[in-house]
Amino acid sequence: MEEREVRIEGGEAYRCATDDTLLRAGLRAGLGFPYECNSGSCGTCKVELLEGQVITLRPDAPGLTDRDRAKNRILSCQARPETDCRIKVRLREENVPAYRPARFRARLEGERDLTHDIREFTFRAEPGHGFLPGQYALFYLPGLAVPRTYSMANVDDGSGRWQFIVRRVPGGTGTNTLFDKVPPGTEVAIDAPYGLAYLRPDAPRDIVCIGGGSGLAPVLSIARGAVRERKLDGREIHVFYGARTPRDLCGEAELRALPGYGERLFFHPVVSDAPADQPWSGAKGFVHDHAREWIGERWNAFEYYFAGPPPMAEAVQRMLIEKRVPYPQVHFDSFY
Ligand SMILES: Cc1cc2nc3c(=O)[nH]c(=O)nc-3n(C[C@H](O)[C@H](O)[C@H](O)COP(=O)(O)OP(=O)(O)OC[C@H]3O[C@@H](n4cnc5c(N)ncnc54)[C@H](O)[C@@H]3O)c2cc1C
Ligand code: FES
Repeated sequence: MEEREVRIEGGEAYRCATDDTLLRAGLRAGLGFPYECNSGSCGTCKVELLEGQVITLRPDAPGLTDRDRAKNRILSCQARPETDCRIKVRLREENVPAYRPARFRARLEGERDLTHDIREFTFRAEPGHGFLPGQYALFYLPGLAVPRTYSMANVDDGSGRWQFIVRRVPGGTGTNTLFDKVPPGTEVAIDAPYGLAYLRPDAPRDIVCIGGGSGLAPVLSIARGAVRERKLDGREIHVFYGARTPRDLCGEAELRALPGYGERLFFHPVVSDAPADQPWSGAKGFVHDHAREWIGERWNAFEYYFAGPPPMAEAVQRMLIEKRVPYPQVHFDSFY
């Protein structure tokens, strides 16, 4: 594959393959690029293109406004270099990847239904590609032009096992391909790891994880990582999980299997709707409202990790801002 040189204004230069994006190649080179979703939606990865030409993978990406376009700003996660380029971007030391992302193949080893529309997929890759609890991978699925993003549900134990929990989206091209056209034994191309909502073992606080719907995987990964982490010995871990109805709930069995369940690790399931044929005596309402009630006045006492559909992620974010939780204690992925 041909490569181009990308020079950062006032800083270093790195090589970017013509089938790669400016963001991903920058992270592969160990540079602390700003980013979040990697799919053109959040706008965090904007850079100014000072010189050179790029191909934009998603011209209508919601992460870029007309004003940005007029100012020659591009989304580095959606930009392939056509020529050598010069860009302006403010790198962040805290974004330097612990594991540099790489492209590799993984074989689907097994799958297991967790609910009527949520399935766990276990892939096996060559050992050697690590990840942190709470990070995500890009999936190149057969027949699809652009990758789909899925968070790891397990922790990296060096064995090359990559586990995901995916909710089938009605009419969704990616999820229906994964559920119906990728039988066990199939190899897919993965690009990983990405994501900044990973477990912070050095944060001296108890943990609150909030997940909704398809957002179970990263909160499970965080919980699984936290119970193994010596630095977090004795810290409490509270997993709040919101589902629409009781039959959409999952995750309890996986948490129950972890050491310390019921002693320092707790599951708080919440449903927003309990129809007559699905009796439910637990918490009802929105998951963030339930978390708010439970937290009471102790807002600064926790490290917060959350993931799920944008309306849920935005509601949690608003709540934490309103409660003045210091920004460094908050880590999240919005599942655009
Ligand atoms: C950081 C992150 C982590 C995620 N983790 C999980 C997870 O663990 N489990 C889970 O179930 N879901 C997760 N998601 C959501 C997931 O990536 C998909 O959006 C979802 O599965 C629906 O995909 P679909 O292809 O079925 O639906 P579609 O409606 O076909 O596509 C959904 C999304 O794919 C992208 N997309 C579609 N077409 C294009 C295009 N032409 N160019 C560029 N992008 C396009 C858009 O972002 C769109 O919103 C995550 C999302 C993000 C951003
Ligand atoms: S990281 Fe590029 S738009 Fe979100």
